[in-house]
Parts: sequence; structure tokens; C-alpha cells
Amino acid sequence: MSRKRVAVLISGRGSNMAALIDAAKDRNFPAEIALVLSNRPDAGGLATANAAGIATAVVDHTQFGKDRAAFECALQAVLVEHRIDIVCLAGFMRLLTADFVKQWPEQLINIHPALLPAFKGLDTHRRALDAKATIHGATVHFVVAEMDAGPIIAQGAVAVRADDSESTLGQRVLAVEHRLYPLALKLVAEGRVSVVDGRCLIDGVPVPDAASLVPSA
Ligand code: GAR
Repeated sequence: MSRKRVAVLISGRGSNMAALIDAAKDRNFPAEIALVLSNRPDAGGLATANAAGIATAVVDHTQFGKDRAAFECALQAVLVEHRIDIVCLAGFMRLLTADFVKQWPEQLINIHPALLPAFKGLDTHRRALDAKATIHGATVHFVVAEMDAGPIIAQGAVAVRADDSESTLGQRVLAVEHRLYPLALKLVAEGRVSVVDGRCLIDGVPVPDAASLVPSA
């Protein structure tokens, strides 16, 4: 089976992007990273992608003012030009409208640094600490028009320690993200994930243990 062509959309340092690039170096991985696309020309991840020999593009949202439709039209044009099959948001800090999302049914995925549906939005690690959560983590999900609300493909948990700071907790969650995103992309690229009633099935059954990571540390 030919490998799916994946675009990774970033806004910043791109450590999740780098984890996907690393995973896709394995010829048996069912997807290749065909494009890294940023909405910010200064995103650190662009240099990492270039160094890895991956095509990069920038669609600078500031050039479009308040015209979100024109920005998304430009994004879509680049994705089509590169014959992209699956889009992975990896720290892409722009909300996408329903019109954009509907062009990528079950082919647009995002990673969020919390165990959804808890802690949607920003500052998830600080909010988990403030809430005295004992378990925190990361979620990979299909993107729908509502923010951080789409069907969950895979989740990874970390225990919250009594002496955790936002930074120490964030580092452990990020390490889980780097394992989780390649796992979730593999499942999607292999065509093993379907959505029924807003819930992901893998190989036709509810998300099994294999899609959940509970690291021992
Ligand atoms: C990651 O923690 C990702 O989960 C988060 O931004 C970080 C990007 O880091 N995404 C969101 O908060 C999306 N709402 P990275 O650029 O090193 O991958």
C-alpha cells in the first residue's frame, strides 16, 4: 500500500513535528511527511524540517488581516498543490473554521496537551495543577469546527506529582505527546480508524488499550 502524504501544520518549535518526521523515517511507517506548513515565518520548526530535507511552506496569517476565509483558502491551495492526504496539526495556533474542516473529513487531526474533554484551550498544565488533577496527559483527536472537541483517537496519561510545576508537568506530557502522535497517525494512515456517533472505532471496535498509553514514570 502506498504511504499517505502528510502535511504537518505548525506555529512554533515543532517538537511534535520532529517526532512525526522521526517515525516516518521507517519505510514501514504508513505515512510520509511530505510538507511542513507554518502560519508564522519565524516558527523554529521550519529549520528542523528543512534540515530533514522536507518541503516547507509559510502561509502568514498576518497577511490576510481579518479575512479567515482567504487565509484558509491559501492553506488549502498549498495542501492540494502538495497532494496531501492527511493533515496533522502540531502546535498550530490558529482556529480553523467549519468550511476548512469539512474539506478534510477524518483526515485532519490535532494533538492537545490535556486529557480531553478536560482542559480545552490554552494553559492546560497550569489549569491541571490549579484544579489539583491527579492524572493529566495528551489527546490526539479528529478536528471538528468546535475547538478541542472532535472524536478521540488516542490518549496518553501522566501522573501529576505533588511537587510538579507547570514546566515539569509540561515536560512529561510532551514526552507522552511524542509517543502518542506517531501512534495515532499510524492508525489513521492505515485506515483503521472510523467514527461512529462521534466516537472513534479502531478496527471496528471501541478504542482499545493499544491506543492508550499509561507510562510507568
Ligand atoms: C504541544 O504541547 C501541543 O500539544 C500544543 O502545543 C505544543 C506544541 O509544541 N498544542 C496546543 O496547545 C493546541 N491547542 P511543539 O511545537 O513542540 O510540538
